[in-house]
Amino acid sequence: MAKIVLDRVDKVYSGGVKAVDSLDLEIRDGEFMVLVGPSGCGKSTALRMIAGLEEISGGKISIGDQVVNDLAPKDRDIAMVFQNYALYPHMTVEQNLAFGLKLRGTPKSEIKQKVHEAAKMLGLEQFLARKPAALSGGQRQRVAMGRAIVRQPQAFLMDEPLSNLDAKLRVSMRASLSQLHERLGVTTVYVTHDQVEAMTLGSRVCVLREGKLQQVDTPQRLFDNPVNLFVAGFIGSPAMNFVEAELTRGDGGAQVAFAGYTLPVPDAVMTERPGLEGYLGRKLILGIRPSDFEDSSHASADWAPMAATSSVTEELGSEINVIFTIDAPPVEHKDTADLAEDAAEGESEMAIPLIENKALWTARVNARSHVRPGQDIELAVDTRRLHFFDPDTGLAIGHTDAAAVDTPVDTLKKD
Ligand SMILES: Nc1ncnc2c1ncn2[C@@H]1O[C@H](COP(=O)(O)OP(=O)(O)OP(=O)(O)O)[C@@H](O)[C@H]1O
Ligand SMILES: [Mg+2]
Repeated sequence: MAKIVLDRVDKVYSGGVKAVDSLDLEIRDGEFMVLVGPSGCGKSTALRMIAGLEEISGGKISIGDQVVNDLAPKDRDIAMVFQNYALYPHMTVEQNLAFGLKLRGTPKSEIKQKVHEAAKMLGLEQFLARKPAALSGGQRQRVAMGRAIVRQPQAFLMDEPLSNLDAKLRVSMRASLSQLHERLGVTTVYVTHDQVEAMTLGSRVCVLREGKLQQVDTPQRLFDNPVNLFVAGFIGSPAMNFVEAELTRGDGGAQVAFAGYTLPVPDAVMTERPGLEGYLGRKLILGIRPSDFEDSSHASADWAPMAATSSVTEELGSEINVIFTIDAPPVEHKDTADLAEDAAEGESEMAIPLIENKALWTARVNARSHVRPGQDIELAVDTRRLHFFDPDTGLAIGHTDAAAVDTPVDTLKKD
């Protein structure tokens, strides 16, 4: 096992595309690091450079104590698992698992032992004699994992290994992957564009955008303290609600006004985020997570009321998403525009037409709320968890980690 360090790593493809831009990242020994970001942000490129499948245009990559810039992929002691887990169709599962070891000249008895160990770990024992065509998608993917495991490499590199599986299988494979990582403790770099996968799998998650590191932290801290509008909008589902707002000082303390609403800003928030004071009397961008709303009849008494009319409700069983419009236009910022573009590429989340250019918000409320589409609802907001962003830079205001954007590896160490 080994740590992997990327030191100001660049990748410029012929044709001039800068796919990875001065990336600093330290993946600790035994860590499960997830690289996440929209399509084209450079995730696969970064992974392929670690693997040695792509030349590095600048900077340095080390695995363990060795700089690997000029080392061939086969000499890096890593194992890759891809989305397309090309198994050999004419070989049995056992032969597929054994193939890599055989190539390396591993003794037969050792191969047999390792293959059986891996098969046991992955629940593949009863399939060893079958050929891939006689396996389900999930079983095939487990064979692909098995091929990586038997090699006992210093690190696993995985590029969207679950994206060809259906939703249910993805969830169960996600759990298997977590277990496997617990058991083996092998340093893992895992690429996905699915933020839910990133949040559930990662010890830490690295958010990339246009080849640049945005923020790297534990899933919870990314969710609670996004450094900028982009990370705030990318992490969390349903996505954070944004609006242009004005921060003022009222009789009872600071308050934030938008779309006909005025929410109190608790004193604690003003003191915890020192930069915020400087925005009094100025415009900023307010962000509220759907999960920081509640139906006021189920909310704690100190949450601030906010009346709305639901346009659509999505009943998820354990909670209800209430979608409503507010009397303000959607936020137009480069960061949120990029997010919208990425969402449009995949399946669109909702097919609700924008009403007169008004922002659509989502509140996630208790399943026992009786809200129905078209009804008025008294929402409540946890004002201690409001997010504020600078309208020009998109940076979170008063964020203690705001320096995490484009800073060297050392300043990102938390533990
Ligand atoms: N061989 C190549 N030649 C030129 N440009 C490339 C090449 N491979 C990738 N790119 C470009 O580099 C950028 C990053 O690509 P990369 O495949 O790393 O993105 P990604 O984050 O993995 O995206 P996805 O989520 O769609 O897989 C993109 O703009 C892409 O078009
Ligand atoms: Mg990719």
